[in-house]
Amino acid sequence: MDNNHENIKRRTDEDGVIFMSIKNEQTEALQESKDEDINILAIESSCDETAAAVVRNGREVLSNIISSQIALHTVYGGVVPEIASRKHVEKINVCVRAALSEAGLSLDDIDAIAVTYGPGLVGALLVGVSEAKALSFATGKPLVGVHHIEGHICANYIEYKELEPPFMCLVASGGHSHLVYVKDYGEYDIIGQTRDDAAGEAFDKVARAIGLGYPGGPKVDKAAREGNPDAIAFPRAKTSEKSYDFSFSGLKSAVLNYLNQAEMKGEEINKNDVAASFQKAVVDVLTEHTMEAAEEYNCKKVAIAGGVASNTALRERLEAECEKRGMTFYRPAPVLCTDNAAMIGAAGYYEYLKGNRAGMDLNAVPNLPLGDRERRYHGRSSN
Ligand code: KG4
Ligand code: ZN
Repeated sequence: MDNNHENIKRRTDEDGVIFMSIKNEQTEALQESKDEDINILAIESSCDETAAAVVRNGREVLSNIISSQIALHTVYGGVVPEIASRKHVEKINVCVRAALSEAGLSLDDIDAIAVTYGPGLVGALLVGVSEAKALSFATGKPLVGVHHIEGHICANYIEYKELEPPFMCLVASGGHSHLVYVKDYGEYDIIGQTRDDAAGEAFDKVARAIGLGYPGGPKVDKAAREGNPDAIAFPRAKTSEKSYDFSFSGLKSAVLNYLNQAEMKGEEINKNDVAASFQKAVVDVLTEHTMEAAEEYNCKKVAIAGGVASNTALRERLEAECEKRGMTFYRPAPVLCTDNAAMIGAAGYYEYLKGNRAGMDLNAVPNLPLGDRERRYHGRSSN
């Protein structure tokens, strides 16, 4: 069963941006701050969520603020980078202030500032990076650069206080589909990735094609619950026997062809059946690769991360497959799967412990590869 412990306070600003403050039960039960505690102020702005959070010792979320622009981009059917950047500029200070105030801390209590600096939309990333650099410069607190996908993986540490590497993690988001062997904190082996579209991208494109709109993932997820997953036989792409890579563009084309043919023949389509059959094809491939990889790497722990990890069918399937094999399945609450800054605070904490610091020349890197330490730090590289 999913743990749905988060308590989300939500309001919509006059400009249509949804402002969320997420508290969980653990936050309520937090003890007083101790001298040895490490409080990280984290910032995330890689796509269409402006987010700030305060995370203690990598695992305890003192505050988690998300300002979501989804409503603004919906009319365009996807994220418009220029609009995203402008809204980040407007919202970032509000989010940072709210994160500190919800945590009951001031900048003096913060030990380091962590920020996503890639991958993502360059203009969007730059807003968070500039904010973090300004805060670091003004306070003299160290600056830590965080890889967005590492952040997604680290959402698991927040949800599961006991989880430690090594484990296998499926990361599926709007821009990425990776199968990652997490060897240790901050050490990742990518053992499979998408050759074309990311899983979330396929969800978004199929949703648009069947008229469900943006953002597609949650809408397909909902429609699929009313549909028959075996109604249409969509293909499952196998990149090769030896590879854990994914490919979703063939599946997306198969759905588009199916819709075109139905239209030409003047046949009604059942949107729920298309959604359910498409979703099953994605879930089959993601699950199969993840379980094969976990077996090959002898992992007893399997985790998921990224926006697609909030998909109901994927969570249920992986849970059942892990149970069959005596593996423990880790899945963060949906609000920790989609973009947020708490996950960046968790990843930033482990970077901080390793002594990794960014300089004032930290830049946004839109195509930052996972696990590439060479390009990661500019300027200072230790305490
Ligand atoms: O991780 P994320 O919030 O942002 C990126 O880093 O890309 O992921 C967003 C993606 C979108 O493509 C969205 O459609 C997908 O995650 N998504 C879902 C669900 N919720 C979000 N896909 C399938 N089922 C869902 N319930
Ligand atoms: Zn993301």
